[in-house]
Amino acid sequence: MNKSTLLVTGGCGFIGSNLCVLLKEKYPHYTIMALDNLKRRGSELNIPRLQERGVKYVHGDIRNPEDLKIEEPLDYIIDAAAEPSVGSGLEGAFNYVINTNLNGTVNVLELAARHKARFIFLSTSRVYPISYLENIGYTECDARFSIHETQSVKGISKEGVNEDFPLDRARSVYGSTKLASELMIEEFREFFGVDYVINRCGVVAGPYQMGKVDQGVIALWMARYYWKKDVSYFGYNGRGKQVRDVLHIQDLFALIDHEIHYFDRVQGRTFNVGGGNASSVSLKELSAICSAITGNRVKENAIQENRKGDIPIYITDNARVTTSTGWTPVRTVTNIAQDIFTWINSNEKTLQNILNI
Ligand SMILES: NC(=O)c1ccc[n+]([C@@H]2O[C@H](COP(=O)([O-])OP(=O)(O)OC[C@H]3O[C@@H](n4cnc5c(N)ncnc54)[C@H](O)[C@@H]3O)[C@@H](O)[C@H]2O)c1
Repeated sequence: MNKSTLLVTGGCGFIGSNLCVLLKEKYPHYTIMALDNLKRRGSELNIPRLQERGVKYVHGDIRNPEDLKIEEPLDYIIDAAAEPSVGSGLEGAFNYVINTNLNGTVNVLELAARHKARFIFLSTSRVYPISYLENIGYTECDARFSIHETQSVKGISKEGVNEDFPLDRARSVYGSTKLASELMIEEFREFFGVDYVINRCGVVAGPYQMGKVDQGVIALWMARYYWKKDVSYFGYNGRGKQVRDVLHIQDLFALIDHEIHYFDRVQGRTFNVGGGNASSVSLKELSAICSAITGNRVKENAIQENRKGDIPIYITDNARVTTSTGWTPVRTVTNIAQDIFTWINSNEKTLQNILNI
């Protein structure tokens, strides 16, 4: 593409801001706009970072169609604006999560339809129902859970969860808003000609993630070790053996870069996207990694009670996305933790009030 205009909604958030910066670095001649309402604490810190690199910041709220009256012709929209916490809505306060994650997506889809822009959606592994994920067969090893060879549900193997995993039960309000958005995206393709690709991401992590207790666990953990604060293992006997695969933000960028530039090959597709087995970690193992990097030891609390919506293990099976694009993640959990450490260490004063919690 010689010249292109891209709008990234949630462009001051963790994923959005990194995509804007990495795209602008690689394609300086592209016009990149980051739209954000700055709801996430710390996202305001990204405004100067984006502007210094030539990314245009647009203050706007995707809940409000008036904020999406963008005049410049748009070629691509990457929709990364959301309330991204799995716990959101589970205590009964639905408004924000539904209005942003579902109604907001529809507003962004209308914008895409008006501009005939291609639509790249950041969805989530949390579209898969909790009860099926809870029932994935696993063994308890010394420091982690590990998926069994044989499973009773389709769409799960030792390689992780693939796109054939069932979708028919409850998944959290957050997960429902994302799945409902996926359905609306298909409607917009069929009836309004919006071409799309959907990436159902597992845990994504890296620098500029404003980790907090309910979202952004890898950055939160590193911050806890950095500032020598306790960590807590909730549920599953309080041993910290629950496992997630983790994708480095630069690996996600490599995929989205490919999707933008080979869009015809991926349009209309839905992919599970994650770090996979090679980049998976339990909380207990994450503690050891953070301790080794920081040189600090902290108190590890065992809390019996499960977190609402928590699951023992999630690993992404990347087979479909790898076969379709050739993309595969290359960075490990230790690379991710090290990069987060370097970021915190170089911005200690600024991040102190946000991450030292
Ligand atoms: N980070 C992950 O591990 C992960 C995993 C799976 C999917 N996702 C998805 O990726 C996307 C980005 O997540 P993230 O980790 O960067 O989260 P984030 O909270 O860091 O970024 C989201 C951004 O959206 C902004 N925002 C929230 N409501 C808005 C609204 N109504 N209008 C405009 N902007 C609004 C926030 O201020 C924030 O800057 C989300 O759609 C999320 O569901 C993230």
